[in-house]
Amino acid sequence: MQFTDLKTQYAALKSRIDERIQRVLDHGQYIMGPEVAEIEEALAAFTGSKHCITVASGTEALLIALMALDLKPGDEVITTAFTFAATAEMIVLAGGTPVFVDIEPDTCNIDVSLVEARITAKTKAIMPVSLYGQVPDIDEMNAIAARHGLAVIEDAAQSFGAVYKGRRSCGLSTFGATSFFPSKPLGCYGDGGALFTDDDALAQAAREIRVHGQSARYHHTRVGVGGRMDTLQCAVVLAKLERFEWELERRAEIGARYQRLLEGIEQVAVRADRNSVWAQMTVMVDRRDAVQAALKAAGIPTAVHYPRPLNEQPAYAQWHSACPASSRAAARVLSLPMSADLADADQDRVVQALRRALT
Ligand SMILES: Cc1ncc(COP(=O)(O)O)c(C=O)c1O
Repeated sequence: MQFTDLKTQYAALKSRIDERIQRVLDHGQYIMGPEVAEIEEALAAFTGSKHCITVASGTEALLIALMALDLKPGDEVITTAFTFAATAEMIVLAGGTPVFVDIEPDTCNIDVSLVEARITAKTKAIMPVSLYGQVPDIDEMNAIAARHGLAVIEDAAQSFGAVYKGRRSCGLSTFGATSFFPSKPLGCYGDGGALFTDDDALAQAAREIRVHGQSARYHHTRVGVGGRMDTLQCAVVLAKLERFEWELERRAEIGARYQRLLEGIEQVAVRADRNSVWAQMTVMVDRRDAVQAALKAAGIPTAVHYPRPLNEQPAYAQWHSACPASSRAAARVLSLPMSADLADADQDRVVQALRRALT
């Protein structure tokens, strides 16, 4: 059993993916070819955003968003302590200071009730993360940001396709930033990502930053990066997009089936006014190392997202603030195999092995 089954997906889409890749090889525009604009148009429409700017990765999307917002040294960005390193890493790399806020113990998403108390004169933006595929309380976050004149960047690396109060993740705030890392809900076959915004000036800034700050060829109006997503990866996402609605339905069905089968075992909660695209299907267990070892012995791959909150990581400890719910989650979370092609029989095997390991 695989943790994320990309082989079955490729088998189902082989002719469309191969055809799309061949078309790029035939026209030869490997950088900024026609598939780049095509996928940007399709993804903007999908998320209900005015602009989509494809970029080299989800990490690059966060960096370019912060650069477009003109983050200055010393500016503070409020974010969650319980996330992948890239979130805080890009804040630091862009010259900012991460301000870590704790999570809700049940959803593992940033606790919005703790955000306003951490705003200072230096705060520039709030960067919530839609962890495991579920958007946090972003309307409340947007309201706080509006009161204080701040931007909100949704780190939507794990939540492309998720619905929040009838709207799509990525199209909910100043910027949405997603990742097309192969194992993400919508993935390519390498690195890729995208930024979304309704703001014309920010979209223009992001487009320029993506190509070394050029507003015209060799006319560098700002400092940028080499941050493009290559044409072949855009072609792969275009092919995968054809089956994406079906995959979202399957993910919802498999997620709901997991929730039923796992009854009695603590799971990440999903709020009633939104869904999860189940980038990860995560449970909380005591004696996690022993449980994980027992599952491994039974042939079930698992993963831990993440074993330590960022404020406790050596590179970020200087910005430490007490985040007890994050620390507790980091000690107990365990992600189970999940993908749109997960078979019922395999899912049954996962849950049986987990129940055995917990007794
Ligand atoms: C929450 C979060 N932010 C950012 C990223 C970075 O995305 P990428 O791997 O495409 O650079 C990831 C990817 O794992 C992520 O999970």
